[in-house]
Amino acid sequence: MYSALKGKHLLSTQDWSVEEIERLLSVAFRFKEERNLGIYHDQVLRAKTFFMLFFEESTRTRNAFEAGIHQLGGHAHFLTEKGSQIEHGETAKDTIKVLSRYGEGIGIRKTYGPGHKYMREMAAHSSIPVVNMQCEDYHPTQVLADLMTIKEKYQGQLKNRKMVVSWTSAPNYIRPLSMAQSLVLCMPRLGLDVTLAIPPEFKLKPEVMAQARKNAEMAGSKFEVVGSMEEACKDADVVYAKGWGPIMHTEDEKEGLALIDKYRKNGSMDWVVDQRKMDLTKPDSIYMHCMPFDRDIEVTSEVVDGPHSKVYDEAENRLHIMKAIMATTMAGL
Ligand code: CP
Repeated sequence: MYSALKGKHLLSTQDWSVEEIERLLSVAFRFKEERNLGIYHDQVLRAKTFFMLFFEESTRTRNAFEAGIHQLGGHAHFLTEKGSQIEHGETAKDTIKVLSRYGEGIGIRKTYGPGHKYMREMAAHSSIPVVNMQCEDYHPTQVLADLMTIKEKYQGQLKNRKMVVSWTSAPNYIRPLSMAQSLVLCMPRLGLDVTLAIPPEFKLKPEVMAQARKNAEMAGSKFEVVGSMEEACKDADVVYAKGWGPIMHTEDEKEGLALIDKYRKNGSMDWVVDQRKMDLTKPDSIYMHCMPFDRDIEVTSEVVDGPHSKVYDEAENRLHIMKAIMATTMAGL
Protein backbone atom coordinates (compact mmCIF):
# COMPACT_ATOMS: atom_id res chain seq x y z
CA MET A 1 0.00 0.00 0.00
CA TYR A 2 1.31 3.46 -0.98
CA SER A 3 -0.20 5.80 1.59
CA ALA A 4 1.47 9.14 0.76
CA LEU A 5 -1.64 10.51 -0.96
CA LYS A 6 -4.14 9.28 1.62
CA GLY A 7 -6.16 12.18 3.01
CA LYS A 8 -4.61 14.69 0.55
CA HIS A 9 -6.88 17.42 -0.81
CA LEU A 10 -6.86 18.13 -4.55
CA LEU A 11 -7.81 21.79 -4.97
CA SER A 12 -5.26 22.66 -7.64
CA THR A 13 -2.52 20.56 -9.27
CA GLN A 14 -0.17 23.28 -8.02
CA ASP A 15 -0.60 21.76 -4.51
CA TRP A 16 0.72 18.40 -5.73
CA SER A 17 4.33 17.60 -6.56
CA VAL A 18 5.23 16.21 -9.99
CA GLU A 19 6.01 12.89 -8.24
CA GLU A 20 2.51 12.82 -6.72
CA ILE A 21 0.95 13.60 -10.10
CA GLU A 22 3.02 10.82 -11.72
CA ARG A 23 1.93 8.41 -8.98
CA LEU A 24 -1.73 9.27 -9.60
CA LEU A 25 -1.31 8.79 -13.35
CA SER A 26 0.28 5.38 -12.86
CA VAL A 27 -2.75 4.25 -10.82
CA ALA A 28 -5.11 5.63 -13.50
CA PHE A 29 -3.24 3.81 -16.29
CA ARG A 30 -3.35 0.57 -14.29
CA PHE A 31 -7.11 0.92 -13.68
CA LYS A 32 -7.67 1.55 -17.40
CA GLU A 33 -5.55 -1.37 -18.55
CA GLU A 34 -7.03 -3.81 -16.05
CA ARG A 35 -10.62 -2.72 -16.73
CA ASN A 36 -10.01 -3.44 -20.42
CA LEU A 37 -8.86 -6.93 -19.37
CA GLY A 38 -12.04 -7.45 -17.35
CA ILE A 39 -10.30 -7.18 -13.97
CA TYR A 40 -12.53 -5.76 -11.22
CA HIS A 41 -11.42 -3.33 -8.50
CA ASP A 42 -14.54 -3.50 -6.40
CA GLN A 43 -12.76 -4.00 -3.09
CA VAL A 44 -10.65 -0.83 -3.29
CA LEU A 45 -13.33 1.49 -1.84
CA ARG A 46 -15.70 -1.12 -0.47
CA ALA A 47 -18.50 0.48 1.60
CA LYS A 48 -16.92 3.94 1.23
CA THR A 49 -18.85 7.10 0.25
CA PHE A 50 -17.79 10.02 -1.93
CA PHE A 51 -20.01 13.11 -1.68
CA MET A 52 -20.42 15.19 -4.84
CA LEU A 53 -21.60 18.72 -4.08
CA PHE A 54 -22.60 20.51 -7.27
CA PHE A 55 -23.54 24.19 -7.39
CA GLU A 56 -23.64 23.89 -11.21
CA GLU A 57 -24.50 21.27 -13.81
CA SER A 58 -22.19 18.54 -15.14
CA THR A 59 -22.17 15.54 -17.46
CA ARG A 60 -18.59 14.20 -17.38
CA THR A 61 -17.43 15.12 -13.89
CA ARG A 62 -20.50 13.81 -12.09
CA ASN A 63 -20.84 10.62 -14.10
CA ALA A 64 -17.13 9.78 -14.11
CA PHE A 65 -17.04 10.04 -10.29
CA GLU A 66 -20.33 8.17 -9.90
CA ALA A 67 -19.48 5.33 -12.30
CA GLY A 68 -15.92 5.30 -10.97
CA ILE A 69 -16.75 4.77 -7.31
CA HIS A 70 -19.28 2.11 -8.23
CA GLN A 71 -16.49 0.23 -10.05
CA LEU A 72 -14.33 0.59 -6.92
CA GLY A 73 -17.03 -0.92 -4.70
CA GLY A 74 -18.21 2.30 -3.03
CA HIS A 75 -21.05 4.75 -3.33
CA ALA A 76 -21.38 8.31 -4.70
CA HIS A 77 -23.81 10.66 -3.03
CA PHE A 78 -25.12 13.59 -5.12
CA LEU A 79 -25.77 16.88 -3.31
CA THR A 80 -26.83 20.31 -4.48
CA GLU A 81 -27.08 23.70 -2.81
CA LYS A 82 -30.86 23.70 -3.13
CA GLY A 83 -31.23 20.11 -1.95
CA SER A 84 -29.30 20.80 1.26
CA GLN A 85 -29.21 23.34 4.09
CA ILE A 86 -26.51 25.26 2.21
CA GLU A 87 -29.50 26.92 0.53
CA HIS A 88 -30.49 28.29 3.95
CA GLY A 89 -26.98 29.54 4.73
CA GLU A 90 -25.34 26.59 6.52
CA THR A 91 -21.63 27.38 6.46
CA ALA A 92 -18.88 25.48 4.64
CA LYS A 93 -17.36 24.61 8.04
CA ASP A 94 -20.56 23.11 9.47
CA THR A 95 -21.40 21.29 6.24
CA ILE A 96 -18.01 19.59 5.98
CA LYS A 97 -17.74 18.82 9.70
CA VAL A 98 -20.95 16.79 9.40
CA LEU A 99 -20.23 15.16 6.03
CA SER A 100 -16.75 14.15 7.31
CA ARG A 101 -18.57 11.94 9.85
CA TYR A 102 -20.58 10.15 7.12
CA GLY A 103 -18.17 9.51 4.28
CA GLU A 104 -14.55 9.26 3.19
CA GLY A 105 -14.24 11.94 0.48
CA ILE A 106 -16.00 14.94 -1.06
CA GLY A 107 -15.89 16.76 -4.40
CA ILE A 108 -17.20 20.27 -4.94
CA ARG A 109 -18.06 22.16 -8.12
CA LYS A 110 -18.58 25.88 -7.59
CA THR A 111 -17.39 28.10 -10.41
CA TYR A 112 -18.99 31.33 -9.22
CA GLY A 113 -19.28 32.93 -5.95
CA PRO A 114 -16.24 32.56 -5.25
CA GLY A 115 -15.82 28.79 -5.39
CA HIS A 116 -12.14 28.34 -4.64
CA LYS A 117 -12.32 30.19 -1.31
CA TYR A 118 -15.32 28.05 -0.34
CA MET A 119 -13.38 24.86 -1.11
CA ARG A 120 -10.30 26.01 0.81
CA GLU A 121 -12.56 26.77 3.79
CA MET A 122 -14.10 23.30 3.57
CA ALA A 123 -10.65 21.73 3.32
CA ALA A 124 -9.46 23.63 6.40
CA HIS A 125 -12.22 22.02 8.48
CA SER A 126 -12.35 18.62 6.80
CA SER A 127 -11.05 15.31 8.05
CA ILE A 128 -11.64 13.74 4.61
CA PRO A 129 -10.03 14.63 1.26
CA VAL A 130 -11.65 17.54 -0.60
CA VAL A 131 -11.51 17.47 -4.41
CA ASN A 132 -12.05 20.51 -6.60
CA MET A 133 -14.55 19.40 -9.26
CA GLN A 134 -14.07 22.86 -10.88
CA CYS A 135 -13.98 26.35 -9.46
CA GLU A 136 -13.58 29.76 -11.11
CA ASP A 137 -9.79 29.33 -11.25
CA TYR A 138 -8.93 25.62 -11.57
CA HIS A 139 -10.23 22.33 -12.93
CA PRO A 140 -7.65 19.82 -11.65
CA THR A 141 -9.54 16.57 -12.36
CA GLN A 142 -9.91 17.61 -16.00
CA VAL A 143 -6.32 18.72 -16.49
CA LEU A 144 -5.07 15.42 -15.02
CA ALA A 145 -7.22 13.46 -17.49
CA ASP A 146 -5.83 15.70 -20.25
CA LEU A 147 -2.30 14.92 -19.13
CA MET A 148 -3.12 11.21 -19.16
CA THR A 149 -4.46 11.55 -22.72
CA ILE A 150 -1.32 13.33 -23.96
CA LYS A 151 0.97 10.82 -22.24
CA GLU A 152 -1.01 7.98 -23.78
CA LYS A 153 -0.69 9.47 -27.26
CA TYR A 154 3.04 10.16 -27.03
CA GLN A 155 4.04 7.12 -24.91
CA GLY A 156 5.04 9.39 -22.04
CA GLN A 157 7.47 11.48 -24.16
CA LEU A 158 6.31 15.04 -23.45
CA LYS A 159 9.62 16.95 -23.38
CA ASN A 160 9.85 19.66 -26.09
CA ARG A 161 6.37 18.95 -27.40
CA LYS A 162 4.45 22.08 -28.30
CA MET A 163 1.01 22.46 -26.75
CA VAL A 164 -1.31 25.27 -27.85
CA VAL A 165 -3.82 26.52 -25.29
CA SER A 166 -6.08 28.81 -27.27
CA TRP A 167 -9.12 30.92 -26.63
CA THR A 168 -12.20 30.34 -28.83
CA SER A 169 -15.33 32.43 -29.22
CA ALA A 170 -17.88 30.30 -27.32
CA PRO A 171 -21.21 32.14 -27.05
CA ASN A 172 -24.23 32.46 -24.72
CA TYR A 173 -22.64 32.59 -21.28
CA ILE A 174 -19.43 33.65 -19.53
CA ARG A 175 -17.27 30.58 -19.01
CA PRO A 176 -14.71 30.59 -16.17
CA LEU A 177 -10.92 30.84 -16.60
CA SER A 178 -10.40 27.53 -14.82
CA MET A 179 -9.55 25.29 -17.77
CA ALA A 180 -7.01 27.57 -19.42
CA GLN A 181 -5.43 28.48 -16.09
CA SER A 182 -5.09 24.83 -15.06
CA LEU A 183 -3.49 23.93 -18.38
CA VAL A 184 -0.88 26.71 -18.38
CA LEU A 185 0.02 25.93 -14.77
CA CYS A 186 0.22 22.15 -14.98
CA MET A 187 1.50 21.24 -18.46
CA PRO A 188 4.89 23.04 -18.37
CA ARG A 189 5.68 21.22 -15.08
CA LEU A 190 5.45 17.93 -16.96
CA GLY A 191 7.76 19.13 -19.74
CA LEU A 192 5.36 20.47 -22.39
CA ASP A 193 6.17 23.78 -24.11
CA VAL A 194 2.95 25.81 -23.85
CA THR A 195 1.86 28.56 -26.26
CA LEU A 196 -1.13 30.53 -25.01
CA ALA A 197 -3.11 32.23 -27.83
CA ILE A 198 -5.51 34.98 -26.77
CA PRO A 199 -7.13 38.19 -28.01
CA PRO A 200 -6.17 41.19 -25.83
CA GLU A 201 -9.36 41.18 -23.73
CA PHE A 202 -9.07 37.51 -22.71
CA LYS A 203 -6.04 37.56 -20.44
CA LEU A 204 -5.67 35.13 -17.53
CA LYS A 205 -5.06 36.22 -13.94
CA PRO A 206 -1.62 37.87 -13.50
CA GLU A 207 -0.71 35.69 -10.51
CA VAL A 208 -1.49 32.55 -12.54
CA MET A 209 0.60 33.80 -15.46
CA ALA A 210 3.50 34.54 -13.11
CA GLN A 211 3.27 31.05 -11.57
CA ALA A 212 3.02 29.42 -15.02
CA ARG A 213 6.22 31.23 -16.10
CA LYS A 214 7.95 30.10 -12.91
CA ASN A 215 6.75 26.51 -13.40
CA ALA A 216 8.11 26.48 -16.96
CA GLU A 217 11.44 27.94 -15.88
CA MET A 218 11.84 25.39 -13.07
CA ALA A 219 10.99 22.48 -15.39
CA GLY A 220 13.15 23.75 -18.26
CA SER A 221 10.14 24.06 -20.57
CA LYS A 222 8.77 27.06 -22.48
CA PHE A 223 5.74 29.27 -21.91
CA GLU A 224 4.86 32.01 -24.40
CA VAL A 225 1.85 34.15 -25.28
CA VAL A 226 0.76 35.05 -28.82
CA GLY A 227 -2.19 36.98 -30.24
CA SER A 228 -3.27 34.57 -32.97
CA MET A 229 -4.53 30.97 -32.99
CA GLU A 230 -3.13 30.51 -36.49
CA GLU A 231 0.36 31.59 -35.43
CA ALA A 232 0.19 29.33 -32.37
CA CYS A 233 -0.80 26.24 -34.37
CA LYS A 234 2.38 26.17 -36.46
CA ASP A 235 4.24 22.91 -35.72
CA ALA A 236 2.09 22.17 -32.67
CA ASP A 237 1.78 18.66 -31.23
CA VAL A 238 -1.34 19.41 -29.20
CA VAL A 239 -4.12 21.94 -29.90
CA TYR A 240 -6.41 22.59 -26.93
CA ALA A 241 -8.87 25.40 -27.62
CA LYS A 242 -11.87 26.51 -25.63
CA GLY A 243 -13.73 29.65 -24.70
CA TRP A 244 -13.73 31.73 -21.53
CA GLY A 245 -15.06 35.13 -20.58
CA PRO A 246 -13.16 38.46 -20.66
CA ILE A 247 -13.17 38.31 -16.85
CA MET A 248 -9.97 40.32 -16.39
CA HIS A 249 -11.26 43.00 -18.78
CA THR A 250 -14.86 43.60 -17.65
CA GLU A 251 -17.27 42.48 -14.93
CA ASP A 252 -20.24 43.52 -17.06
CA GLU A 253 -21.93 40.40 -18.47
CA LYS A 254 -23.53 42.15 -21.46
CA GLU A 255 -20.24 43.77 -22.44
CA GLY A 256 -18.45 40.44 -21.94
CA LEU A 257 -20.85 38.54 -24.21
CA ALA A 258 -20.59 41.28 -26.87
CA LEU A 259 -16.79 40.99 -26.77
CA ILE A 260 -16.97 37.21 -27.23
CA ASP A 261 -19.32 37.64 -30.21
CA LYS A 262 -17.11 40.37 -31.73
CA TYR A 263 -14.53 37.72 -32.64
CA ARG A 264 -17.07 35.78 -34.72
CA LYS A 265 -18.35 38.83 -36.62
CA ASN A 266 -18.75 38.51 -40.41
CA GLY A 267 -18.06 34.77 -40.27
CA SER A 268 -14.50 35.24 -39.00
CA MET A 269 -12.69 31.92 -38.47
CA ASP A 270 -9.74 33.52 -36.63
CA TRP A 271 -10.68 31.89 -33.29
CA VAL A 272 -12.21 28.66 -34.59
CA VAL A 273 -10.25 25.40 -34.81
CA ASP A 274 -10.67 24.35 -38.42
CA GLN A 275 -8.86 21.99 -40.76
CA ARG A 276 -6.78 24.83 -42.20
CA LYS A 277 -5.26 25.45 -38.76
CA MET A 278 -4.82 21.73 -38.03
CA ASP A 279 -2.92 21.48 -41.34
CA LEU A 280 -0.34 23.88 -39.83
CA THR A 281 0.34 21.47 -36.94
CA LYS A 282 2.58 18.38 -36.96
CA PRO A 283 1.13 15.45 -38.98
CA ASP A 284 0.48 13.35 -35.85
CA SER A 285 -0.85 16.24 -33.72
CA ILE A 286 -3.93 15.92 -31.55
CA TYR A 287 -6.96 18.15 -31.03
CA MET A 288 -8.35 18.30 -27.49
CA HIS A 289 -11.30 19.90 -25.69
CA CYS A 290 -12.60 19.24 -22.18
CA MET A 291 -16.18 19.22 -23.54
CA PRO A 292 -18.90 20.33 -23.90
CA PHE A 293 -17.86 22.20 -27.07
CA ASP A 294 -19.94 24.35 -29.37
CA ARG A 295 -19.79 22.43 -32.64
CA ASP A 296 -19.07 24.55 -35.71
CA ILE A 297 -18.62 27.61 -33.49
CA GLU A 298 -15.50 26.79 -31.44
CA VAL A 299 -14.36 23.93 -33.65
CA THR A 300 -15.56 22.58 -36.97
CA SER A 301 -17.20 19.15 -37.06
CA GLU A 302 -14.55 18.20 -39.62
CA VAL A 303 -11.88 18.57 -36.91
CA VAL A 304 -13.84 17.23 -33.96
CA ASP A 305 -14.86 14.09 -35.88
CA GLY A 306 -11.56 13.90 -37.77
CA PRO A 307 -8.33 11.91 -37.32
CA HIS A 308 -6.59 14.41 -34.99
CA SER A 309 -9.42 14.48 -32.47
CA LYS A 310 -8.94 12.89 -29.03
CA VAL A 311 -12.01 14.36 -27.37
CA TYR A 312 -13.74 11.07 -26.52
CA ASP A 313 -10.53 9.41 -25.27
CA GLU A 314 -10.02 12.50 -23.15
CA ALA A 315 -13.57 12.24 -21.76
CA GLU A 316 -13.06 8.52 -21.08
CA ASN A 317 -9.86 9.24 -19.19
CA ARG A 318 -11.90 11.31 -16.72
CA LEU A 319 -13.24 7.96 -15.45
CA HIS A 320 -9.81 6.44 -14.88
CA ILE A 321 -8.42 9.61 -13.30
CA MET A 322 -11.44 10.03 -10.97
CA LYS A 323 -11.00 6.43 -9.85
CA ALA A 324 -7.29 7.03 -9.23
CA ILE A 325 -8.03 10.24 -7.28
CA MET A 326 -10.54 8.47 -5.03
CA ALA A 327 -8.44 5.31 -4.61
CA THR A 328 -5.26 7.23 -3.69
CA THR A 329 -6.73 9.97 -1.50
CA MET A 330 -9.47 7.91 0.19
CA ALA A 331 -7.71 4.54 0.51
CA GLY A 332 -4.01 5.27 0.04
CA LEU A 333 -3.69 2.94 -2.95
N1 CP B 1 -15.34 18.85 -18.85
C1 CP B 1 -16.22 18.88 -17.83
O1 CP B 1 -15.91 19.22 -16.69
O2 CP B 1 -17.47 18.44 -18.20
P1 CP B 1 -18.77 18.58 -17.31
O3 CP B 1 -19.06 20.05 -17.14
O4 CP B 1 -19.84 17.89 -18.10
O5 CP B 1 -18.53 17.93 -15.98
